[in-house]
Amino acid sequence: MTRYFIGIDVSTTASKALVIDRDGMVIASSSHAHALSTPRPLWSEQDPEDWWAAASASLREVLKVVSPDDIVAIGLTGQMHGLTSLDKDGRPLRPAILWNDQRSGAQCQEITEKIGAHKLYALIGSILLPGFTAPKMRWLQQNEPDIFRQIAHVLLPKDYVRYRLSGAFATDVAEGSGFGLMDIGKRAYSDELLAAYDIPRAWLPELCESQEVCAHVSEAGAAATGLKVGTPIVGGAGDQPAAAVGMGVVEEGQASLAIGTSGVAHAMSPRYAPEPNGRLHTFCGPIPGMWFHMGVMLSAAGGLRWLHDEVLADKSYDEINRMAESVPPGSLGLLFAPYLTGERNPHPDPYARGAFVGFTLRHGLPHMVRATMEGIAYGMRDQLELLRSLGVNPAEAVVTGGATNSAVWLQLTTDIMGVPLYTINTNEGSAFGAAILAAVGAGAYASVPEACRQMVHKVDTVQPSTAAADYQRLYPTFQGLYAALRETYHALARFEGSM
Ligand code: XUL
Repeated sequence: MTRYFIGIDVSTTASKALVIDRDGMVIASSSHAHALSTPRPLWSEQDPEDWWAAASASLREVLKVVSPDDIVAIGLTGQMHGLTSLDKDGRPLRPAILWNDQRSGAQCQEITEKIGAHKLYALIGSILLPGFTAPKMRWLQQNEPDIFRQIAHVLLPKDYVRYRLSGAFATDVAEGSGFGLMDIGKRAYSDELLAAYDIPRAWLPELCESQEVCAHVSEAGAAATGLKVGTPIVGGAGDQPAAAVGMGVVEEGQASLAIGTSGVAHAMSPRYAPEPNGRLHTFCGPIPGMWFHMGVMLSAAGGLRWLHDEVLADKSYDEINRMAESVPPGSLGLLFAPYLTGERNPHPDPYARGAFVGFTLRHGLPHMVRATMEGIAYGMRDQLELLRSLGVNPAEAVVTGGATNSAVWLQLTTDIMGVPLYTINTNEGSAFGAAILAAVGAGAYASVPEACRQMVHKVDTVQPSTAAADYQRLYPTFQGLYAALRETYHALARFEGSM
């Protein structure tokens, strides 16, 4: 019998179904987009019904290619943190409040003061950010009390799709960490935090490990998708921990740099040892007994796309790469601060901005291109340094995303990191990671690392060049940029009326 595994990814832009076999071969894939609504400044919302419509349509399509009888298990992944509040009949009470919604700054401050900053960071593995779910629940309690009173269940985006597939209210510990309500070291909800927020435990989904089967497709789920009744569904993981699995970063000593629109560095650790000042996220890992460090820069490859779209729209990316190649390492002393959409780690500041610093008459557009690539790579180096401060010292790292499509950008990123970077055979990301978790949950592999060794392979390794020494000299100057510009950023935000 053929045995396939499905990964479902409920991302911010679309919901996708990916079918793979035991060797990681992609057999079928389908995706349907959903809209995002920003009804007020700082708000970012989606209709949970849209996730279900897109996910079920994608499932129906892949099940035209493969037989539902051959689907052994399903894994879920998706955008993390989105507050999905349901009434006693499991119906959404309002649009979901997403990970990139910034309305709950005051609630973060209130809870941080109530619990005490360092105690809170040690519990939740990070500073408390408006992106997290719990401060949004506080906001709802204070601003929409009529809705808050009707809440019977709270879910996260991918777990709403699980609920529609199976009727189960469940999440995995890697995703559940993003509530900001767990004692991450204990892999359980924290009674103290639930009491501080005044949130009943009964509202929250049951926690399971990422590879654990925690639900089965119901009759209603089967009728809507074409899946077989009883197909097992594993816990899965939020998009970032699932992406780490999809890149094969599942053992101590491995690390990844995902340089997409945002930039994320990942590493796994068998110990719970969060950064004392909460400057990166340490969440439960998608593997039992492992924790997951994650550093996020909000605008990474997105910075180069901005330069292309706004300044160099008439140029192809090939021409842009040639411009960067024509400039020496260090761009003749031109630096780019990459904070175009504020920043998360290591400078949690929604008002941080982009900047070019150091123009002279010798600089032109090619220098701006190279400086942009370099500034994004320095931002990723900041994430690597945060990992190093926790004793994570990878000898090499896997790299994915925009920078891997440009030889010059990949080389200068390697030089700035100072360690070899390698590319891998797959770019299916989070959905692939979720399907791997399903394969492990179904018993096709004894463990996630064993599954990854079979399915994820190195393609090319790039070594640091002689330019690495120049970049090591310049890096401390980049590190000083944010502190030097902070007051200016805030004055500009006040001028613009956003602060
Ligand atoms: C993780 C996070 C994002 C979202 C959307 O903390 O906020 O990765 O999951 O991609």
